Amino acid sequence: MSAFSATLSDLLSRHVPGRSLAQPFYTAPEIFRHDLDTIWYREWLFALPACQLGKPGSYQRLKIGVYDIVVIRDSKGGIRAFHNTCRHRGSILCRAAQGRVAKLTCPYHQWTYDLDGRLLWARDMGGDFDPAAHGLKSVHCRDLAGLVYVCLAAEAPDFDAFAETVRPYLGVHDLTEAKVAHQSSIIENGNWKLVWENNRECYHCAGNHPDLCRTYPEDPTITGVSADGTFPEKVEAHFNRLEAAGAPSRFHMAEGGQYRVARMPLLDGAESYTVSGKIAVRKRLGRVPVLDAGTLLLFHYPTTWNHFLSDHSLTFRVIPISPTETEVTTTWLVHKDAVEGVDYDLDTLTRVWINTNDEDRRVVEENQQGINSPAYEPGPYSATHEDGVMQFVDWYLARLRAARPPLTVAAE
Ligand code: FES
Ligand SMILES: [Fe+2]
Repeated sequence: MSAFSATLSDLLSRHVPGRSLAQPFYTAPEIFRHDLDTIWYREWLFALPACQLGKPGSYQRLKIGVYDIVVIRDSKGGIRAFHNTCRHRGSILCRAAQGRVAKLTCPYHQWTYDLDGRLLWARDMGGDFDPAAHGLKSVHCRDLAGLVYVCLAAEAPDFDAFAETVRPYLGVHDLTEAKVAHQSSIIENGNWKLVWENNRECYHCAGNHPDLCRTYPEDPTITGVSADGTFPEKVEAHFNRLEAAGAPSRFHMAEGGQYRVARMPLLDGAESYTVSGKIAVRKRLGRVPVLDAGTLLLFHYPTTWNHFLSDHSLTFRVIPISPTETEVTTTWLVHKDAVEGVDYDLDTLTRVWINTNDEDRRVVEENQQGINSPAYEPGPYSATHEDGVMQFVDWYLARLRAARPPLTVAAE
């Protein structure tokens, strides 16, 4: 057993349920690499909304740990993902973060690949060269009702159960009819798990999110996880009202807790995440039958949480950069025919979550700074407000405990 795995199993055995994690889980490069190996290189990861890749050849580059991939719309309209490394001598193919190409041409010696990954052209490689054996290496890629997920593992875990569960909820939001109204990527100077822990509770909301709190309830049965799957009468009535109107809403949590979906009410009278509480987009995205439909909450560990509203939708993507840096990308989706300045005002649409993200960035960074101190010790979660955090931490620890030994050994 390596020194590192001895330390990790020691840390795992010393973890006290109901308390935050020990410092190395948030700071140690070895644990960060282990997280990549055991979670990020194995699980399905949300990449982007499909509508972001408008036309054939539109691509988006994505870096996850040591991997560099390209997600691209092919000539038949499907979405594929490839490793961004040429089959000649390995150069990256796409330099830009995003763009549009007719073919994928390597900048080094111009080997040229079709949008389906086949090698079409390679100059002067001799008679016995087999182009068919040198196509781009593909990455598992699925389009779930307009949300694109990828998986870096050689053998991907099952995606179908998640897709079948979530598809009916997403259906009424018509994400295939969406366009990107705005996207923001911020770097939070905190470990990726602190970003998630912060996301999974609203214990911090009243003290930090003045704009969000105009519409989003602090009620932990809405923001967190109901341990036994029961909800207050008001929430049950909300589920019933929306389901009767044709918008699947009832809470569903995956066995093992990797994802959850539920359409939760906003504060009384609120329709959307705006300062006024009224809808932000007149030409609405989706067919949710009432304006005060609340927010369809979907999270899927480890990359994404989402809010689907009666007028627009929001996707969030978490990508770990280093033990203490995490990228959070937020995308505001509106109906593709909605016109800025006519159907919506961009500032009205984006203000609440731009501010909320910045407030969350600050609390995550301050959390990380305090954890960096040798004086930090794991503290108790609130059973009332931080059920969701415990649920995330339990999922994370279960993934580590179930993992085979890491495929790559940390080179110290
Ligand atoms: S490395 Fe791509 S063509 Fe040579
Ligand atoms: Fe927050």
